[in-house]
Parts: sequence; C-alpha cells; structure tokens
Amino acid sequence: MEYKPGNKPDKVKHKALENLVDLILPSTYVEFHSGPGRYNGYDGSSVRTLNILKGRGIDSTVYLHEKDDGLRQQLIANTLGFKSDKQEIFVGGEWENSQENYLNADHSWLFLLDPTKIKSYNKYSINFLDKTLSTGANFLLYMPQGLFKSKQQQKARRGHRKKVKEIKDLIGKYQRNYLDRFIFAGRGNLKRKDHIVIVSELIPDLKACFKKYISN
Ligand SMILES: C[S@@+](CC[C@H](N)C(=O)[O-])C[C@H]1O[C@@H](n2cnc3c(N)ncnc32)[C@H](O)[C@@H]1O
Repeated sequence: MEYKPGNKPDKVKHKALENLVDLILPSTYVEFHSGPGRYNGYDGSSVRTLNILKGRGIDSTVYLHEKDDGLRQQLIANTLGFKSDKQEIFVGGEWENSQENYLNADHSWLFLLDPTKIKSYNKYSINFLDKTLSTGANFLLYMPQGLFKSKQQQKARRGHRKKVKEIKDLIGKYQRNYLDRFIFAGRGNLKRKDHIVIVSELIPDLKACFKKYISN
C-alpha cells in the first residue's frame, strides 16, 4: 500500500486535522510521520497545521518527524518560512529516537500519528500511546485498515482488525473521550477502511464537531 497525497481519504484526513487544530490551538504540536510538508502544490499535514497556528497568532512549539532523508530536507525547506518569535519549529528523523521528549505532554498538546501502514502501530507506538494517553494530550490517529477480499489474505485482514481493536481498547483503558470515524478507499483486493480516531476532552461533542468532515 502506497501513500497517495491529495486523494479522497487524504483530503478528508486533512480537513479533519485542520478543524481539530483550529478547535484546540495546541501549545505544542507533534507529528510522527510528516512527509515533505508539501506535494507538488498540495499542502500536507504539517504545512496545513502551521498555516492555522500562524493565522491565529498563538505561541506554539512544533515538532515534526520524517525518517526519509530526502523528504526531511524538503520538509525543512517547506516549513522554514513559518518560523517566527511565536512559532518554534524543530524537524527530526525517526520519532522513536525522540519519544522521551514527549512524555511530559499535557492537555494543551496535539499529536498526529499518520503512518502509511497500520502495521507501523508496532510495540513502540503502542507503548508510547500507553504512556501518553494518561497525560490528557489530544491525538489524531490515522489508521489505514486493509479489508483484503481474497481468502489468502484473511490473516492480514484479521491482523488489521485486531490492531484497531488494540488501540481502541488502550484509549478505553484511560477512559478518554474519542471518536472513531472511517472512510472507505482503494479497489479490488486492496480495499481500505481508513480510521480517523480523534482523542480529546477539549471538544466534548466530537461527533457534532466532526460530522461535517467525516460523514460515515
Ligand atoms: C502517510 S505519509 C505522511 C503524510 C503526512 N502526514 C501528510 O498528511 O502530509 C507517512 C510518512 O511517514 C514517514 N515515516 C514512517 N515511519 C516513520 C518513523 N518511524 N519516523 C518518522 N517518519 C516515519 C514515511 O517516510 C512517510 O513519509
């Protein structure tokens, strides 16, 4: 499964993210999977968030992670213009190497986890969520769940379903307020059910606030 910037589910994800950032106006915003920030004129998650924070003129600190060296250089170039007295921006490589910096999060922080594959919710991500869900921080977790039609792929299908349940159970363990909405994408044997999971107590009625962006 490959990431296609600007396709329908991607646009829905970006609208939901923009709405979330605008409602929360986080003091600290952290992305674990940033990509280059901008794709041939189409703005990605980091540039969209930085635009909103800049427009609202609030003080914020932004940490962006991209493991690919080439994409990280593009990310640096695409976000440089947003640096100001009000907005500090740090760009790093693999988020796993910096996770200790984020354990002191609180209810004013927002994390975006947006990997291309659901299997990236590995033991490190689960362990991180287990440590930070208790801090009251806000999250947008994007989970592309493969639905795999063919019999041979039943195992993968079960694995994906199990992973979504594991993450939702973890959110439940900390009794967090959350919304799980999804959009269907892909064709043939690679149908996907992309979950957009939002965790936040700052927006008590998540369903009402996100109905417009995520309809099904
Ligand atoms: C789906 S794309 C990100 C899309 C981006 N959030 C957006 O909406 O514009 C996933 C990106 O995460 C990066 N990535 C994957 N694992 C990572 C890790 N452990 N740390 C940092 N970046 C990672 C990949 O190289 C890829 O560019």
